[in-house]
Amino acid sequence: MKIPFVAGNWKMNLSVDEAVKFLQDIKGKLPDPKVTETCIAASPLFLESMIQENVGSSLLISAENCFYEDEGAYTGETSPKALHEMGVTHVIIGHSERRKYFNETDDIINKKVHAAFRNHLTPIVCCDETMSRRESSDRISWVVSQVTNALKSIDPQQAQHIIVAYEPSWAIGSGKTASTDEAEEGCYLIRQTIADLYSDDLANQVRVLYGGSVNDDNADEILAQTDIDGVLAGGASLKSDSFLKLANFLQK
Ligand code: PGA
Repeated sequence: MKIPFVAGNWKMNLSVDEAVKFLQDIKGKLPDPKVTETCIAASPLFLESMIQENVGSSLLISAENCFYEDEGAYTGETSPKALHEMGVTHVIIGHSERRKYFNETDDIINKKVHAAFRNHLTPIVCCDETMSRRESSDRISWVVSQVTNALKSIDPQQAQHIIVAYEPSWAIGSGKTASTDEAEEGCYLIRQTIADLYSDDLANQVRVLYGGSVNDDNADEILAQTDIDGVLAGGASLKSDSFLKLANFLQK
């Protein structure tokens, strides 16, 4: 059985001290990781302190991004190899903000997925959908092509471990959550694409998340959908109490 996955994406928020305090606040209050896995993605500046503070906790620590080469003359980039060496286990790849502000293309995202697997990091690949795409006729092919391109030349042994998030950018930080039907439809589409690329069995093993204005009021309904195995929350993950409410949704 798939274990639900509740992830927070802090983006460029908080300070090192606030990050450490957050981990102190949630210590001992997270669900059993056999019931729900929990993860926080944070700035590379915080990761070392977070990993030190996180000893003994089931919280998984993720980066928000990494580069596609392991090392070299790439000023300012974050090495996936160094992330793994420091104890990071997950990395978000292809968030819509990276696509929008840093011109990340499907090709770059695919290279980053390869880099993550090469360095024993689990990629959380984000699949974007803008409002203009949503309203256009090529909406479905847009989602399908992002998933297909992200997974290019990824073998099934790796693909079964990937986590994919349907993150319509019109719902991100806008307070305008996708309806449960819209969220389910996007996640279903992602799972079907994975089934077409690999197999139904593999697609059923992959965890597909919804992200976009998730909070503790709407999470229950979102998480009740057939093809939604978890959430990726931005704003609602910044405060320890709201993250804990999301994380413990199954215990209610
Ligand atoms: P939000 O962000 O929950 O603040 O909308 C989600 C995300 O960007 O992953």
